Amino acid sequence: MNIRFTIILLLILSVSFQSSLAQNKRKSVDQKVDSLMLLMTLEEKIGQMNQYNDDQSATGPETIDPDKAGQIIRGEVGSLLNCNGTVRTAGWQKVAMQSRLKIPLLFGQDVVHGYKTTFPIPLAEACSWDMEAIELSARIAATEASAGGIHWTFAPMVDIARDPRWGRVMEGAGEDPYLGSLIAAARVKGFQGDQPGEVNSLMACAKHFAAYGAAIGGRDYNSVDMSNRLLWEVYLPPFKAAVDAGVATIMNSFNDLNGIPATGNQYLQREILKGKWNFSGFVVSDWGSVGEMINHGSVADEYEAALSAVTAGCDMDMESRCYKNNLLRLVKENKVPLALIDEAVRRILRKKFELGLFDDPFKYCNPEREQKELNNPAHPAAARKIAARSIVLLKNQDHLLPLDNSYKTIAFIGPLVKAVKQNKGFWDVEVQGVDSGFIVSQWEGLKRRLDAGTNLLYAKGCNIDGNNKDGFDEAIAVAAKSDVVILSIGERRDMSGEAKSRSNICIPGVQEDLLKALLTTGKPVIVLINGGRPMVFDYTAEHANAILYTWWLGSEAGNAIADVLFGDYNPSAKLPISFPRSVGQIPIYYSYFNTGRPATDDSNRFYNSSYNDLSIYPRYEFGFGLSYTSFAYSNLQLSTKKIKAGESLTASVTITNTGKYEGEEIVQLYLKDKVGSIVRPVKELKDFKKISLKPGESKTISFIIGKEKLSFFNQNLEWVTEPGEFSLMIGASSADIRLEDRFELL
Ligand code: BGC
Repeated sequence: MNIRFTIILLLILSVSFQSSLAQNKRKSVDQKVDSLMLLMTLEEKIGQMNQYNDDQSATGPETIDPDKAGQIIRGEVGSLLNCNGTVRTAGWQKVAMQSRLKIPLLFGQDVVHGYKTTFPIPLAEACSWDMEAIELSARIAATEASAGGIHWTFAPMVDIARDPRWGRVMEGAGEDPYLGSLIAAARVKGFQGDQPGEVNSLMACAKHFAAYGAAIGGRDYNSVDMSNRLLWEVYLPPFKAAVDAGVATIMNSFNDLNGIPATGNQYLQREILKGKWNFSGFVVSDWGSVGEMINHGSVADEYEAALSAVTAGCDMDMESRCYKNNLLRLVKENKVPLALIDEAVRRILRKKFELGLFDDPFKYCNPEREQKELNNPAHPAAARKIAARSIVLLKNQDHLLPLDNSYKTIAFIGPLVKAVKQNKGFWDVEVQGVDSGFIVSQWEGLKRRLDAGTNLLYAKGCNIDGNNKDGFDEAIAVAAKSDVVILSIGERRDMSGEAKSRSNICIPGVQEDLLKALLTTGKPVIVLINGGRPMVFDYTAEHANAILYTWWLGSEAGNAIADVLFGDYNPSAKLPISFPRSVGQIPIYYSYFNTGRPATDDSNRFYNSSYNDLSIYPRYEFGFGLSYTSFAYSNLQLSTKKIKAGESLTASVTITNTGKYEGEEIVQLYLKDKVGSIVRPVKELKDFKKISLKPGESKTISFIIGKEKLSFFNQNLEWVTEPGEFSLMIGASSADIRLEDRFELL
């Protein structure tokens, strides 16, 4: 036997050994679940399907329940959300240990972008296109939260969003299914670690199933009406990626999809998720969404709501109490077969066993570990790096940035300069006993970075909203005394997030007027734009000397911004979502259809699919972001120009750093299937590579294009390829295509 053969054999044996270990583990968990279920009354089973909010804080319309402890002791509650800290979680777990069968509670929380250490909001992190960084951020969040007694995060939010009026764009990964799927998988892996039950991991929850991001008019909770093609091609892929990555749970959503509320939607939950995709975890409702089906008008009362949701495959009821108050009767009246209850409970208990909670219900409640992890200095250090990688350089006239030490007086102006908590953005966690002094403000970050010889001056200028310009004069005076001005403006952190939809997404108040006033001094102005969504800022886009889109960067915001301003980190981020010029362009996304009268020429608008008063193109397109250096693209080569079905080809391209700074470039591959039985978008992102290059350095990278990248869902929702010609485009953004070629699928 030669060595290669022996190695391959050993590898095969080890893989099959591991998979049989996994199978045995699964079997033994199933046996334990079965034995426990034999002991359970129907009431206790229904209790496992019931989740309550703890009274610490609420993330939805709360129902005050005076007897939570009593209900837990009677086995009527399976899980609590919004309680954190080892003291609080251990306290509730002790109550659960007084129940007849001592079934431990599951503690869930929205650990969306960090726990104590707050990372950039998810949409900002998505700008990094850096799967390792994104996974690490979720890993650290899991390490801290699990040390605080939490078992389960309601994240990642994997909803595709193409409407920045919707406040929840901040929680996802933007507009694109390919990028969104990679990020969904990275976040699931980061939260969950290598295997269930690791003490520093959380169960993840991909949400909101499904199509919640397509709410009509960008109004949160609104209806969704979409074709099956769009659902499968754009909105479902990130969920599928999360399932393939082993996500433990899925949350359904508030919206109706084509007239059927997602919570009671059999097609989504039974047919697709638990059927076609064979998802083995459990489904939790969104907050109160079971009961809200009455408002939708799809059911008459709570009895019917419980029937609809459980039949559709929703295993746990968050906060609506419809299951608790109706499932027993529904089973007794033969409306719900016992088998349905058993299936749901089996899925939930399996997770409790996998987490190791039956061996030790207090496994995640170790105060020493909590102290250690919440004060782990590696966490803020990682947050700082990721935050710098999330900042997008949108404009840099005359290479104003990076700043150097020649500027002796810098004016730092604006309502967000000295703000502290704002930097966290929406969906931060109120960790018990931790104050917000831990956040590095933008002022603090910049001050720390400056050497002793540089003067930093401050003026607030104005508030985030309102019309008051009383502070302008002082701001102008400060700017006039300085060599360069940095202006920090944007939204308030609670202007985006859940229930934070806006019809006007311009930079609020008089902040752009403040910019105009400052520019009268003739000093160069760098604008930092803070916010949770793509905003509209025409004046700034046209007149500022430089623009950094800083989103909400979390605990290390100030340090990360200073790192980028001074070039300690050369920005590499690219937008995962289109920035409109005006609200009238929404929804706007790069992968649109050509139409019969394509808008290829902005000047000939009358017979074009375009607007008479505005370009159809976004202000900043998907995939756009500048660097302090520049990159040249050359030498595109295809390994072949014709492939047969099932074969693949390789496209290689050389990228050269032609500027003065070391930097990273995100090289993007787009494809266009020229003719399809279902019309294909003008281009679709199919791959990308993020590479780092020193000045003058070149690297040749390659992309493999095979069946997966050439397929689409046909009329029958089959994932197929069709023969014909494809355009292959390599670019620095979806609009900045640098090299192009064609090939044919035979
Ligand atoms: C949100 C979910 C969240 C849940 C629990 C709901 O209002 O839509 O995303 O996980 O509350 O906080």
